Amino acid sequence: MKIGLFADSHESDLAVSCRTRRPSLSYGKIKEAMAAFRAGGAELVICLGDLLDHCADRADDEREFIRLSEMIRSFGLPFYCVRGNHDCENFVEEDFYRIGKFQKPPFSETFGNKTLVFLDANYHDSGDRYLPQKIDWTNSWLPPEQAERLKAVLADPAVEEAVVFLHELLNPSADPRYLVRNAAEIRAILEKSGKVRRVYCGHYHKGMRETCNGISYVALPAMCEGEENRYEIVEL
Ligand SMILES: [Fe+2]
Repeated sequence: MKIGLFADSHESDLAVSCRTRRPSLSYGKIKEAMAAFRAGGAELVICLGDLLDHCADRADDEREFIRLSEMIRSFGLPFYCVRGNHDCENFVEEDFYRIGKFQKPPFSETFGNKTLVFLDANYHDSGDRYLPQKIDWTNSWLPPEQAERLKAVLADPAVEEAVVFLHELLNPSADPRYLVRNAAEIRAILEKSGKVRRVYCGHYHKGMRETCNGISYVALPAMCEGEENRYEIVEL
């Protein structure tokens, strides 16, 4: 199956943020990516988080999100989004998934012999969920309930091969600030199952790809950086 992937669009009405990001270009970039996904035969689309950034006036955040999610839905492709730290700054979890009309991780869905597993590591290692204005982006963590759930999904005999999606990195040699703090434990679960060959995330805007013990860990380059667009169609 083919899927469309993009990460870190940071979409908003801001022309520039953090010197290099161009949030206001991302509406057009996502539209272009969605058209390319449809033309390229993608069965579904996944955003790997940081879909949103703040608008110049915070009061516009919800209106902008509605405008964006309506455009995404207009393409008629199943769309999945794992939240990123910036999405957590804009909206609490319930509002993000309600307004966007996206399915809320953790969950998994099976297509043929591929099971797609969606995780949410937007927690501090204290167990506190990321909440607006209370986020240390260098401290991300996958709570034990999700680790147990992941084990159970991978142990299910009906699951032949699984692909994992989340915002923060599990890559073994990632800069620790971007890495899920219990990444080693999560990687051990994936390795032990023998059913996972690929993990996709966002968060690290330069992008990063590496393979460890037979599993490829891909951090997609961010869509929001500069004027160039970045997205991928991947054959699973
Ligand atoms: Fe980001």
